Amino acid sequence: MSQPLIKRTQAYFEERFNHTADCTFLSPGRINIIGEHIDYNDGFVLPAAINKYICFAISKNNSSVFNLIAMDLQDEYSFDAMQAIQPIDKTWANYILGVIHQIKEKGHHLAGLNIVFSSTIPMGAGLSSSAALECGISFALNHLFQLGMSKEDIALIGQQSEHQFVGVNCGIMDQFASVFGVKNKVIKLDCNTLEYEYYNANLSQHALVLLDSRVKHTHLTSGYNTRRQEVEKGMSIIKSIFPQVNTFRDCTLEMIESIQSQLGDIIFNRCQFVVKEIQRVKEAAMALQNDQLDQLGALMFETHEGLSKEYEVSCPELDMLVATAKSTDGIIGSRMMGGGFGGCTINLIKKGFEKNIIQTLSKEYQHTFGIELIPYEVEISNGTMLYEPIHQ
Ligand code: GLA
Repeated sequence: MSQPLIKRTQAYFEERFNHTADCTFLSPGRINIIGEHIDYNDGFVLPAAINKYICFAISKNNSSVFNLIAMDLQDEYSFDAMQAIQPIDKTWANYILGVIHQIKEKGHHLAGLNIVFSSTIPMGAGLSSSAALECGISFALNHLFQLGMSKEDIALIGQQSEHQFVGVNCGIMDQFASVFGVKNKVIKLDCNTLEYEYYNANLSQHALVLLDSRVKHTHLTSGYNTRRQEVEKGMSIIKSIFPQVNTFRDCTLEMIESIQSQLGDIIFNRCQFVVKEIQRVKEAAMALQNDQLDQLGALMFETHEGLSKEYEVSCPELDMLVATAKSTDGIIGSRMMGGGFGGCTINLIKKGFEKNIIQTLSKEYQHTFGIELIPYEVEISNGTMLYEPIHQ
């Protein structure tokens, strides 16, 4: 558990409001083993929550005013929950305002809160700090006002908030992973039905290392929404030719190849990536279940190739990290992770090789781009929770 994070958030709350916070919540970031850009394409994904969190210290304040303090950003914002909630010109606040708006829309009554939050999830690194923020707030409101929402409701509210108040048309993977995470398990999520299964991540002989390229992205200005439009266009062309197709799951590569000229090169490439990636996740889940990690690693490399060449959401820095990983001893699989255009690579590594690998890649990366690589050795952890010290 993230004791220093919890302590500093609680201490800052006390300093600002002159009493201890009633409740503390933790909401994690996520990794995704495989299944990228297919949560909004009716695919399957294999994410997990990680031991990097946003911590929230919260008390009711006997008013209808919410006082939000973003401790790391040294910024704050207050508003009256009785008034209509609108997006403002602070992105961090919009993630929270969006959640409150959604919950009010569902007819729930909220009273005022004092909230301080701080984070160990790096922002813009593809680890879903935004989903952690949305889900943490939604979870906290559900707990404090006994709203009776399910975990699925909490995840969906987070996603809607991002669509409506931030303008990123994200899929459901990040919020789902943040809320449904379980220690040492990855979630195989069917993004079509939201049915899910947990798979043991038997990583006793292996480690997961994230390498942060430090190329920052925001999906508001990256090509994220454009990719969604491209695949939607692709799907409408596919359906007009193959009426039996409802989603990308019903498509075969042969179908897509047979209509390449109607799709045009760009949309053809996007669609073939989606069809191949849906298949790869099924194979990866089997490999994980059967403890065939070499097979899983090979699929991760293939996914990167597709994300880079077909879906075109990588960047030279991420491509270089994966290419170097391919020829480095002890790395079984590597690929860019998350929405792309920057952020981290996820690397499946044989235990014992971590230190050498980090040293080698950091040196090469510094030499090529003049940027210091940041490594994160992450563990798969539980999802959004109320922090109760006695039970830890
Ligand atoms: C971002 C989005 C997710 C998902 C990934 C790509 O993290 O928020 O919904 O689409 O990109 O897999």
